Amino acid sequence: MRAVVCKEYGGPGSLVVEDVEMPEPRQGQVRVAVRAAGVNYVDGLLAYGRYQVKVPPPFVPGSELSGIVDAVGEGVDSVAVGDRVFASLGTGAFAEYVLVNAQSLVPIADSLDFGRAASFHQSYCTAWFAFTRRTSIKVGEWVLVTGAGGGIGLAAIDVARSFGGRVIAVASTAEKRALAIAMGAEATIDSSTEDIKVRARELSNGDGIDVVYDAVGGEVAEAALRALRFDGRFCVIGFTGGIPRVPLNLVLLNNRTVVGVEWGGWVMRNLEENRLLIGEVMDAVAKGQLNPIAPVERPLTEAGFAVAALLERRAAGKIVLVP
Ligand SMILES: NC(=O)c1ccc[n+]([C@@H]2O[C@H](COP(=O)([O-])OP(=O)(O)OC[C@H]3O[C@@H](n4cnc5c(N)ncnc54)[C@H](OP(=O)(O)O)[C@@H]3O)[C@@H](O)[C@H]2O)c1
Repeated sequence: MRAVVCKEYGGPGSLVVEDVEMPEPRQGQVRVAVRAAGVNYVDGLLAYGRYQVKVPPPFVPGSELSGIVDAVGEGVDSVAVGDRVFASLGTGAFAEYVLVNAQSLVPIADSLDFGRAASFHQSYCTAWFAFTRRTSIKVGEWVLVTGAGGGIGLAAIDVARSFGGRVIAVASTAEKRALAIAMGAEATIDSSTEDIKVRARELSNGDGIDVVYDAVGGEVAEAALRALRFDGRFCVIGFTGGIPRVPLNLVLLNNRTVVGVEWGGWVMRNLEENRLLIGEVMDAVAKGQLNPIAPVERPLTEAGFAVAALLERRAAGKIVLVP
């Protein structure tokens, strides 16, 4: 079978498609014929050796996928050959076939195609976790989403809107802002030309923001924190723009709360609760309350370029690799 192999840490050229041995499922494992694999920022960090966890090359990147159950190992009775499923895993999804623990597989709702199923899991579960387990959104509250044209940001807009939030989207290009509006944002801020704090306060009728969902960090984080109103909450999601250092007096002022959101770390300690969470997300998808964006499809041979597009800030929306 074919798989994308990271031969060494580095640029697009170090991700090459090779023939590798077909994996055989062991006890409790399932082999999935991959139909689509979502490309995430973290896959790029891993392939470039820039993630907090290092995987030594050679390895097959890719951390979320959808597909069809192709073979099951001993003791697996939760899924059967032919089932449509999706899953998240550490690495291995950029391939024609992948082994997944049966417990990690989730059936795909009828309303989801393989592309959306492969690219919504991490982003939607992170947003759902943030807005249901780490903080909450009341109907009519103002939610400021940074990195709004990326995968994590677009999912946050959709989830916040489904809870009745009024979303202001921050993004650096017209294409990304247009996607954010299409996803349900009420207004946008151009982070390359506008003052985020000033514009966010203007757009929220002078009141200020109730909840910030910050996937960018860097200089954007402090501006977004300053835009929060009294009792405002700041969700720390990601650091594509660098790890910010903000003065703590900004947290004291206005009784603000800064909330760390690490969905992946929480999952490892709360497998059962996460199953409930995924069920809640799938239920909302099935009812049409959430509408994940259709991803751009690329072949496995373009894995390196897809990953580079994310790391170099060029990607708008989601990309999936289709074997
Ligand atoms: N906390 C969690 O549980 C969790 C879970 C999954 C992912 N994450 C994190 O969420 C973040 C976003 O992931 P994603 O998949 O949405 O990525 P993405 O699709 O590439 O979007 C990230 C956005 O970050 C902005 N950005 C600002 N400076 C950048 C830079 N120097 N390089 C690249 N992008 C830059 C870009 O928006 P503008 O151009 O508009 O500024 C870009 O669209 C990542 O840090 C990821 O690790 C966190």
